[in-house]
Amino acid sequence: MDAALSTRRLDWLADFPAIPEGWAYLDSAATAQKPRAVIDAITRGYAESYATVHRGVYQRSAEMTVMFEASRRRVARFIGAASPEEIVFVRGATEGINLVARSWLKPGDRVLLSTLEHHSNIVPWQLAGAEIDVVPLTPDHRIDLDAMAAMIRPEHKLVALAHVSNVLGSVLDAKRAAEIAHGVGAKLLLDGCQAVPRMPVDVAGLDCDFYVFSGHKLYGPTGIGVLWARGEILEAMPPWQGGGAMIETVTFEGTTYAAPPARFEAGTPHVVGVLGLHAAIDYVEAIGLDSIAAHEAALVRETRDSLAGLYSVRLFGPEDSAGIVSFAVEGVHPHDIGTILDESRVAIRAGHHCAQPLMAALGVDATARASFGVYNGEQDVEALVSGIDRVTRIFG
Ligand SMILES: Cc1ncc(COP(=O)(O)O)c(C=O)c1O
Repeated sequence: MDAALSTRRLDWLADFPAIPEGWAYLDSAATAQKPRAVIDAITRGYAESYATVHRGVYQRSAEMTVMFEASRRRVARFIGAASPEEIVFVRGATEGINLVARSWLKPGDRVLLSTLEHHSNIVPWQLAGAEIDVVPLTPDHRIDLDAMAAMIRPEHKLVALAHVSNVLGSVLDAKRAAEIAHGVGAKLLLDGCQAVPRMPVDVAGLDCDFYVFSGHKLYGPTGIGVLWARGEILEAMPPWQGGGAMIETVTFEGTTYAAPPARFEAGTPHVVGVLGLHAAIDYVEAIGLDSIAAHEAALVRETRDSLAGLYSVRLFGPEDSAGIVSFAVEGVHPHDIGTILDESRVAIRAGHHCAQPLMAALGVDATARASFGVYNGEQDVEALVSGIDRVTRIFG
């Protein structure tokens, strides 16, 4: 591996107090570890500046409101939104997709998904009463956009796709997906959970209509995420949850609703979570998303090359997958792989990764998955590969 990459990774690793020496944390696609800057922002949020937002008449609340809304502007800049009013704070990508499914979609609307979607991008559409069609994958495990172009029809109101697959790491050609969707008048929703921690994202450049992501996969806190939608789309959407903060006036005869984004943020928000998300964005942008992408690409190359050399290992996903490598070892259940690796202090994920339809398409019940973050380096890849070598020896 490029020596500069592994040296830089050691600088980044030092930012993460919960990663002890010698522990290979390879489960960032599930949730990323937190840098000191994020932990400090959360601590300051509770220990120094804590108060509610938007409603307080006292100085502390006014100051917290300023910080909270500054974070909304920071998120807007981070993903290239036209205005902070297009940023809705939600609990995570799951809640963002449920919001769109409940508020924007009408029961019976036809939706186009792909085989590789996370359950979060399947079940909300089912619950909302959508008719669902499914785009297949190419032989190298990408969403097959030629097939999508052939099957999309004007009845499709929405195309909802993972920007990066949480199992395969395949990166969607989002601009082409937008062109195909818009060609029949459908909107495009991108599930950006695995993309925002791994590459620069610009919603204007991608030409999508909705974008969702979770803070905790971006080195930020759990319980906070983002739904972005074009301003005119949000304006036309009714609220999906009722309560404080989302209203203009309330009487027993009827209620009028606030403008977006407040219309979609009922109840007291996750104030400190938003500050933590702000710090996480500052953190990744200080490193540079291009540098993170290059770093993870080098780790993926190294991992795939090394695992491909091991007898009985089957690799899934394309060669250029973004930061995520799924694999199987012939005759060994992925849970056994995970348990044996854990004995060598290597933490991977094993299971269906909330993507059971994809498992069915791959013809497996589960896979083992290694996923990278800024703190990973050559040593982690070596620990993984020697652990897999041990697995193959134990199971003969
Ligand atoms: C691609 C993708 N979509 C959606 C989700 C759901 O994210 P959350 O559980 O943070 O809402 C995940 C989480 O694993 C994911 O990887």
